[in-house]
Amino acid sequence: MKKSVVVAASLLWASVSVNAECDLNQGKKVFNKCAACHSVEAGKHMMGPSLHGVVGRKAGKTDGFLYSMAMEASGFVWTNERLSDFIASPMSYVAGTSMPFGGIKKVDDREALICYLKGLK
Ligand code: HEC
Repeated sequence: MKKSVVVAASLLWASVSVNAECDLNQGKKVFNKCAACHSVEAGKHMMGPSLHGVVGRKAGKTDGFLYSMAMEASGFVWTNERLSDFIASPMSYVAGTSMPFGGIKKVDDREALICYLKGLK
């Protein structure tokens, strides 16, 4: 009896924490705004570079994609925070970027999107 209560409680905890930190469906929905120019398939570049594995990757350095000089010279690594700031306002975060996108203002949408990108296999 005692054991089943513990199991139920930990399952509940797991689903609550996943939802609180990461709404994958929401993230996928937000990604529709990027999908015209970005694929999530490794190595598949469109107008923008593939976003497969972008978190933790060096900005402007993926093989096979011609970046703007601004992005190539940025010299940073995409962390959650950097991605979030960039997506909020790409053209002011990396002045001179060739990514013509106005930005996503809602922080929840950006978090869900980054979560989705991190979860890609
Ligand atoms: C209209 C096309 C377009 C849309 C829409 C777009 N991007 Fe981009 N994206 C680009 C281009 C072009 C680049 C290359 C920018 C450069 O070299 O300055 C880029 C670059 C990036 C990079 C840098 C990748 C790297 O390898 O350093 C990230 C991250 C990124 N985009 C994320 C997003 C996300 C997330 C969205 C949706 C919210 C999005 N983009 C929407 C065209 C687009």
